[in-house]
Amino acid sequence: MYDFAVLWDFVSFAVRWLHVITAMAWIGASFYFIALDLGLRRSPDLPDGAYGEEWEVHGGGFYNTVKYTVAPDRLPEHLTWHKWQSYMTWISGAGLLAIVYWAGAELFLIDPAKWDLTTWQAIGLSAGFIALGWLGYDALCRSPLRSNPTAVMLVLFAGIVASSWLLHETFTGRAAQLHLGAMTATIMTGNVFFVIMPNQRIVVADLKAGRVPDAKYGQIAKLRSTHNNYLTLPVIFLMLSNHYPTAFAVPGAWLMGPLVFLVGVAVRHYFNTLHATGRGPLWTWGVAAVLFVIVAWLGAAPMWTGAATEAAEARALSEAEMAFVASPHFEAAADVVRGRCSMCHAREPFWDGIRWAPKGVVLETDGDIARHAREIHLQSAASHAMPPANLTGMEPAERALVARWYRSGG
Ligand code: HEC
Repeated sequence: MYDFAVLWDFVSFAVRWLHVITAMAWIGASFYFIALDLGLRRSPDLPDGAYGEEWEVHGGGFYNTVKYTVAPDRLPEHLTWHKWQSYMTWISGAGLLAIVYWAGAELFLIDPAKWDLTTWQAIGLSAGFIALGWLGYDALCRSPLRSNPTAVMLVLFAGIVASSWLLHETFTGRAAQLHLGAMTATIMTGNVFFVIMPNQRIVVADLKAGRVPDAKYGQIAKLRSTHNNYLTLPVIFLMLSNHYPTAFAVPGAWLMGPLVFLVGVAVRHYFNTLHATGRGPLWTWGVAAVLFVIVAWLGAAPMWTGAATEAAEARALSEAEMAFVASPHFEAAADVVRGRCSMCHAREPFWDGIRWAPKGVVLETDGDIARHAREIHLQSAASHAMPPANLTGMEPAERALVARWYRSGG
């Protein structure tokens, strides 16, 4: 019989693969156009209505790009749009969120010590946070404050701090970091979908009708696109943070997101100035380094294991998890896990060099083992990823035992 836990893992892998590829395409295009914009130079022989031009060399040829603001006199016959990179990144990201955090809500989304939500409540809150993030941001950009871009940036940052705190009060640290990233990325795609593209379409319609397009549409699009530029780098940090427990499962984790947003602004400022003037201000790297040291320092704060594992213990086992304990193979499998895994995956590990349970995965009590049944199976039976380098000498027969137990419970 085919192992559906493995199939599900590959579904997740496929969507993640797609997500990373589309995100690279989107961010790559975004970096390219920002650099192109900043590198535009005026020259005497530009055509009418052109704002500037840039020469580039790449792939065995020279490119001469001319930018028209707001638009050329006539609509060109062949016009390339750049929008699907952004839409596909959002769509695949939403899929991945559902696969990892909604389908795995008990493991990754809900932290009963913070808020003992049911799965559906947690999913509702997860979607609600993301939608509200966009609505709040969009209202801000349309408010009277919009004439003052610096004030908009400051309010936006205050919103990020508040959201980070709220998310960390609501979900597991891992989900909170991811949701802060997803909220921000949704703002970025929302900008493309709800503002930049519709404005672009108005301009195209004006051109077709022979009207001169209003320059304000280009300006609105530019403001949103500048926000996107500054939001990119922190989003990537937040999306990657789930690989580093010390970047989400520590008390100060809620401050890391906001600090990393400042790192992102500093680094983008360097590149933006570099592309515009040919010289980037070096102090920005100093600022970025100091901020990152503070992030790392927050990560070294006393491990959360106490609080989080107590919370995990406090949560009653679900019916599916009970089935794993009730299985006739449970005792044998649990003995294997205690014998081969617990030296590292413990509240207080006694394996040399391991100071806390790796990835926050604690495998000691019956409850721990039942809650992690699927992961134990994937890591040590369906694959031989654990124990690392088979350090604790797990026998093939023991892996078979784990697989038998997993099948009997699921
Ligand atoms: C020698 C110490 C050690 C032993 C023994 C060990 N692990 Fe791990 N485990 C680790 C480390 C280190 C990581 C983190 C790996 C990483 O960062 O990718 C980890 C990660 C994990 C994860 C999380 C994987 C993920 O990517 O989220 C699971 C689940 C896991 N181990 C299960 C087990 C099981 C089941 C056993 C016993 C069969 C076991 N481990 C034995 C050290 C150990």
